[in-house]
Amino acid sequence: MAKKSTSATKVTSKPVYVLNGPNLNLLGLREPEIYGRTSLADIEKMVTAHAKARGVTALCLQSNHEGELVTWIQEARSMASGVIINAAAYSHTSIAIHDALAMLDIPAVEVHISNIYKREEFRHHSHVSSVVKGVICGLGVQGYTLALDAILADISK
Ligand code: DQA
Repeated sequence: MAKKSTSATKVTSKPVYVLNGPNLNLLGLREPEIYGRTSLADIEKMVTAHAKARGVTALCLQSNHEGELVTWIQEARSMASGVIINAAAYSHTSIAIHDALAMLDIPAVEVHISNIYKREEFRHHSHVSSVVKGVICGLGVQGYTLALDAILADISK
């Protein structure tokens, strides 16, 4: 008889980096009609719990500084098993973040809480999208856990 598994099988010992860019530290307070009322701390708790249930760890980091995000993406090359990134406004402007992501050979998934295609035209292009495995956009904060599942599906292939 097959043994019933009580805990998730360890897919990787390296954490999945969850990177959030500028102004996302104010989620919950910031334009709640667009981004909802969930704080970044609550999103990080949710992703961390979701990761734990799937036998991995999540390392959650937020910065308002482009270079700091670049440094974490570079670090992820050796330290992470995957990257979830909401580069926020830098998605639409940053070649440096694009270039850093292009060097990754682990799966990366771009997340936007809002549907950027339903919003102002300047949000319709993301420099991140062409250098990640996939994009989740407009599904609210649930996008982060969906992104984690996509990364885990990819690394356990
Ligand atoms: C965002 C969308 C971006 O256009 C915006 O600049 C953000 C948040 C989102 O999660 O919907 O800061 O990335």
